[in-house]
Amino acid sequence: VIAVNEAQTKHLFDNRYGTGQSTIDGLIRATNVLLAGRKLVVAGYGWCGRGVAMRAKGMGAHVIVTEVEPMRALEAVMDGYEVLPMGQAAPEGDVFITATGDKHVLRREHFERMKDGALLANTGHFNVEIDIPALQKLATSVTAARPFVDAYELADGRTLHLLADGRLLNLSAAEGHPASVMDMSFANQALAAEHAVKNADALEPKVYVVPEEIDREIARLKLETMGVAIDRLTDEQARYLASWDEGT
Ligand SMILES: NC(=O)c1ccc[n+]([C@@H]2O[C@H](COP(=O)([O-])OP(=O)(O)OC[C@H]3O[C@@H](n4cnc5c(N)ncnc54)[C@H](O)[C@@H]3O)[C@@H](O)[C@H]2O)c1
Repeated sequence: VIAVNEAQTKHLFDNRYGTGQSTIDGLIRATNVLLAGRKLVVAGYGWCGRGVAMRAKGMGAHVIVTEVEPMRALEAVMDGYEVLPMGQAAPEGDVFITATGDKHVLRREHFERMKDGALLANTGHFNVEIDIPALQKLATSVTAARPFVDAYELADGRTLHLLADGRLLNLSAAEGHPASVMDMSFANQALAAEHAVKNADALEPKVYVVPEEIDREIARLKLETMGVAIDRLTDEQARYLASWDEGT
């Protein structure tokens, strides 16, 4: 098995810029919500979460991040986002987007504290990031407000809107990622498959990462197709960077 998601030319671009853009696209297509001035809660500050947070911030939203990993939470704080536990973010948010790969990140204790009219969406892992059965139990009625938007009316009179049945918002309500970022993910898959075939005798039954030279070659090719040129080290620079005895 070759874990293509671990390649830098996959997660740094597809997960971050692809998911960032197409999730916002799905949110807007489904709801036509104005993001400027809204509080948008992103659950998970991984590659997908930081893409969503970055693009939502660019649209003028006040972005709140929730995390379970201290390093990621610290990055979110230093990137300028408010970081809160979901219990505290729940009554603050106008829009919630999960991007964790985890389950029940939004659950009953959060639904109970959310604002009337809140929008709930997932762009991470299947339809389990939002505990939909718990939301169904709390609801007295569920009506289709518009395509990809179900209005869950709760006994206390509040309505919570679940987008795209809790499935990946960007794939359901929009068109997924643009081809010009998926090209790198597919290049990783194709070249990793070729590598596996060519090196079958030497490979053991375990999980490998995409070889670094394939990752770097994809970045080089992508730059070339974008018409972007970069510098090359001079011989003097290459010697200097590799040496312990040059310099001060
Ligand atoms: N929508 C898409 O098109 C798309 C594209 C790529 C990946 N994905 C999926 O998105 C998910 C995230 O991918 P990624 O590359 O960002 O992964 P990642 O591992 O980099 O990030 C996930 C983050 O979520 C955090 N997390 C886990 N449980 C949490 C919880 N209960 N509350 C708050 N944070 C929590 C983790 O600490 C981690 O920082 C995966 O399931 C992946 O398959 C979706």
